[in-house]
Amino acid sequence: MATVALKDVSKVFPDGTLAVDNVNLDVNDGEFMVLLGPSGCGKSTVLRMVAGLEDPTSGAVMLDGEYANDLPPRDRGIAMVFQDFALYPHMTVGDNIGFPLKLAGVEPSPRDERVANVASALGIGDVLGRRPSQLSGGQRQRVAMGRAIVRRPGLFLMDEPLSNLDSGLRAELRAEISALTRELGVTTIYVTHDQAEALTMADRVAIMRKGVLQDVGTPTQVYGRPATLYVAAFLGSPRMNLLEASVYVHLDRYVALNLGEQSLYLPWDDIRSRSVAHYHGERIVVGMRAEALTPVPPDAPGDVLQGRIRYLEHHGHESLAFLDVGATAVVVDEMSGPVGGPGAGARSLRRGLGQVVQRLTGRAAEQVESATGGGSRTSVLGDPGRHHRRPAELAVRLAPYPAVSSGQQLAVSVRMDAVHFFDERGDRIDVGWR
Ligand SMILES: Nc1ncnc2c1ncn2[C@@H]1O[C@H](COP(=O)(O)OP(=O)(O)O)[C@@H](O)[C@H]1O
Ligand SMILES: [Mg+2]
Repeated sequence: MATVALKDVSKVFPDGTLAVDNVNLDVNDGEFMVLLGPSGCGKSTVLRMVAGLEDPTSGAVMLDGEYANDLPPRDRGIAMVFQDFALYPHMTVGDNIGFPLKLAGVEPSPRDERVANVASALGIGDVLGRRPSQLSGGQRQRVAMGRAIVRRPGLFLMDEPLSNLDSGLRAELRAEISALTRELGVTTIYVTHDQAEALTMADRVAIMRKGVLQDVGTPTQVYGRPATLYVAAFLGSPRMNLLEASVYVHLDRYVALNLGEQSLYLPWDDIRSRSVAHYHGERIVVGMRAEALTPVPPDAPGDVLQGRIRYLEHHGHESLAFLDVGATAVVVDEMSGPVGGPGAGARSLRRGLGQVVQRLTGRAAEQVESATGGGSRTSVLGDPGRHHRRPAELAVRLAPYPAVSSGQQLAVSVRMDAVHFFDERGDRIDVGWR
């Protein structure tokens, strides 16, 4: 029904804000694409440019393969739902949903039939006679959705449509929205800052930070092989454990990753060992999700880290232990100051590194740059001898209410094949692009 392509699209607002920075993105016919990122990263601006409500400063918006920058919004075959939707308070639910059809000159009888179909698909078939004030928040959002989709748009744009709802209702509606858009086969771009929402709803997720596209892929791809440190840190709960490691190559044995007081080892028959070996004598970031860590007896063989439980968090269905393993954490600030995306220019990169370095070292990036000679050597890893360092608290999943308590020792086995490596700039170290 519709495809969307953004080609080198940037948006600079009149006040100089660079809201979208050279974004390239293809959305396939019938695909459910989620734009994910923290508040202010440029998601709405991207969506508004697709809708024609905002002009790109440079680059092209292509709809169905045609250059669409000059196409007025009403000719784009698009329906849009916002977080702050407004219904007509004096109209019934049925009239609200049917209003776009009425404007389009559709006769009452086919109109009522289409309204009834959409309403029943959205589970509001029995409240068509009510007014918006007589509905719950979730029902009102369904009406807004129904009104948008009743014209059978080729492209459905949704900008954080569920953010104002409570969490139970959000989960319910998110399942309904994916089911409905897939049933209709309508191409959808869905904006959210909620990573759980993105991972559960999307065919593919596009992750943005400070106007820069960081990674695009299926939920499995972006979660399982995040392209950058930022994506790794942003997806998943609990957060991925990110530890600073220095690399030391033992030619006859393995590549050692020294994590402070303990080490992990990549044997040469691990396909990633050669790429990591390039960083001999340097520091990299080692990422481990909680699911890569399993509690084991203290004398267990293999890749094991020993730690002391600093504290426990009970979540009902599971408990989390946070271990002090004598390593240093790399802290990625999600709200601002990221690392650049793969291929992002040095300009974006340097601009982005500020907060990461600041959080890690307690100093601004410029100071670190001048201290380290500046330029391309700017690192997310700071300078070990001179800066404040934050001890890592390694998140480990345990059964609910485990028979351990804080202060106790715990050994965890590390699934080395599930460990991620990132270079000092925050790019994934890998044997090849996915
Ligand atoms: N009309 C505008 N004028 C100036 N700056 C804007 C305007 N609209 C958005 N911005 C800025 O552009 C950036 C991206 O905004 P937005 O696309 O709304 O982000 P998101 O939807 O991801 O929260 C933010 O820094 C925001 O303040
Ligand atoms: Mg927004």
